[in-house]
Amino acid sequence: MIKSLLVLSLCLLASGVLVAQKATSPGSGQEKKIRSMVSKMTIEEKVGLLHANSKFYVSGVPRLGIPEWALSDGPHGVRAEINRHNWFYAGWTNDSSTCFPPGTALAASWNPALARERGIVLGEEARFRKKDVLLGPGINIIRSPLCGRNFEYLSEDPFLISAMAVPYIKALQSKDVAASVKHYLANNQEENRFKVDVSVSERALREIYLPGFKAAITDAGALTVMAAYNKFRGEWCSENEYLDRQILRQELGFTGVLMTDWDAAHSTIKAALAGLDLEMGTDKADYNEWYFANPLIRAIKEGKVPLAVLDEKVTNVLRVMMKTKMLGDKTREQGSMNTAEHQLAAYHSAAEAVVLLQNENKLLPIDFTKLKSIAVIGDNATRKHTSGGLSSEIKPLYEITPLEALTKKFGKEVKINFARGYEKQSTFKEGSNAGQSNTKAVDWKLIEEAVEAAKNSDVALIFGGLNHDFDTESFDRQDMKFPYGQETLIREVVKANPKTVVVIIAGSPLELAGIVSSAPSIVWAWYGGMEAGNAVADVLSGKVNPSGKLPFTLPVSLEQSPAHALGNFPGRNLKVNYEEDILVGYRWFETKKIVPQFPFGYGLSYTTFELSALHADKLLYSKDEVIHVNFTVRNSGNRFGAEVSQLYVSQPVCSVLRPAKELKGFEKVFLNPGESKTVELIVKVSDLAYYDEAQKGWTIEPGDFLLHLGNSSGNIVQTVKIVVN
Ligand code: BGC
Repeated sequence: MIKSLLVLSLCLLASGVLVAQKATSPGSGQEKKIRSMVSKMTIEEKVGLLHANSKFYVSGVPRLGIPEWALSDGPHGVRAEINRHNWFYAGWTNDSSTCFPPGTALAASWNPALARERGIVLGEEARFRKKDVLLGPGINIIRSPLCGRNFEYLSEDPFLISAMAVPYIKALQSKDVAASVKHYLANNQEENRFKVDVSVSERALREIYLPGFKAAITDAGALTVMAAYNKFRGEWCSENEYLDRQILRQELGFTGVLMTDWDAAHSTIKAALAGLDLEMGTDKADYNEWYFANPLIRAIKEGKVPLAVLDEKVTNVLRVMMKTKMLGDKTREQGSMNTAEHQLAAYHSAAEAVVLLQNENKLLPIDFTKLKSIAVIGDNATRKHTSGGLSSEIKPLYEITPLEALTKKFGKEVKINFARGYEKQSTFKEGSNAGQSNTKAVDWKLIEEAVEAAKNSDVALIFGGLNHDFDTESFDRQDMKFPYGQETLIREVVKANPKTVVVIIAGSPLELAGIVSSAPSIVWAWYGGMEAGNAVADVLSGKVNPSGKLPFTLPVSLEQSPAHALGNFPGRNLKVNYEEDILVGYRWFETKKIVPQFPFGYGLSYTTFELSALHADKLLYSKDEVIHVNFTVRNSGNRFGAEVSQLYVSQPVCSVLRPAKELKGFEKVFLNPGESKTVELIVKVSDLAYYDEAQKGWTIEPGDFLLHLGNSSGNIVQTVKIVVN
């Protein structure tokens, strides 16, 4: 059996390589043209293409018609222009852009069509701004609730990540802009990100940390990849022979550009041989002294880096330029900026992301036309978030806060009593989370004002959560608690007015144990981008029926979460060992039978749904077959809405540990009241394999597999058995 599997995986590998090679087959016209250009270039010109000449640009070779290359952040909008030679903004007046909600919100929509729409908009805006590469999406696994960049990433689950990243990248690149999928690899914390050495088992690498990148490259054809800051098994990611040469190039057939993260290069020869193409962001004023500048020219002249290796890199750069129509192709996308369609896409993305966590007594939706007054409480009711978080920050054309939206939509008929409720006590300083210390003070004066406003209003809305002093690049959070005394505020306001809705604005898990039993309704609205306020107001009023689902587990407390339960976050002595192995996120909770606050995939609606009639097309499958899984979703309530049906798979008996559940399919279905739809999900039997470290390949042990249908990892409504032989 093992032999035949090996043959199969070799065949798959070979076919993957063939697919990759097809596009870059040496005989193709494109490749011939590239070879001819390379043959006309001097070593100096070639090396000039392999390192930046400023913060975000790379020199071209004008005499050969190779233009300067323009790169830009970031994942949820095109970042404002930064000065060429320092990190200050250039102060342009025409670089405000459309800003989408960040990654966790995108994933919370569980709607790949929105990822596609986002890719189109970002591509059009990037082109309008004359950018060639957009630095995103960020698809690292959310391993710990505390990682500062969780908000930028998508999920704790590789299947969900892949499902969202692939349409995003394809759509972006269809607009002649290269994606840069980042940060390759195992960049799962910000603490010590420039130094930490990550140890991950081969199995966890293959099953958890790599699949998103693999899908981005092999399914979406991502044209560039950004190597992470950290070390992986003792070697920097930017010069890691195993990750960069063996996996990325040889196994995945990647023929695009591997660039460093900003200031992540560490060597010339080692990195060059390992497969790095482009050095960005090195912290040395003289660009000629960067690793991939004069030192590379010297290494080539001394024969320490073969000319063929240099040509491979130049070829990769030209190939990406060719694919994005940079080399004189008149049909290149011209782009557009801040159109009504772009703004509508940002709105949809924000509205579909909202997760309804709790709705006792059906307090929501609120018919504002029937109210005389509402209390709007909390710093996040008026705070703008889009310009925070560091490299993903955006200068949006506008940003609607919740208070603005509520006032505009309902302010004429309803009296709005605003009270700040709590104050932002934190400060932001790049690289240190010390600004989060001492942010637990309870400000009773502000609470009393809020209580007063709540007492004098029909309904109270508290907008709390976090901000980008917590959810940010460059450091992690210190704990998972609500800052600024918000728990006390929430409890006091609920006491004063039981009709209270708590709206959480945050991009990573918070401990809700202190509020779930008091706050009747809880809504998780993420950072909603430029349309944040409109989206959340429409969900509260019922114009939009919430359909988001959690893209990560919300633990009761930090200690429940795997990396923290095992004490290996953020590591010791600059080393972190991912001991939880494949049991990341819900895989841990489900397998260890730990009940979280809210499970992965969870989210309520204003209507109700029934999932039924789950069946697979057969009982018995061989390893090369596909399983057609069918079931019915019915809107059993009285409002239009959407349900995300989720298919998890388990193998109860196996010689190795298998997670109790693994997501293998999902579909978001929009239904009118009473309407039902039959859904078919197709799962390849080969996708049920585990990575066998001894055999260095994917293995399926014959036996029973269970297909679980539910609307969260914690709520399975039907299970069927299939057998793989
Ligand atoms: C971040 C990248 C970003 C780059 C350029 C780095 O600090 O890690 O995600 O694209 O800066 O701003």
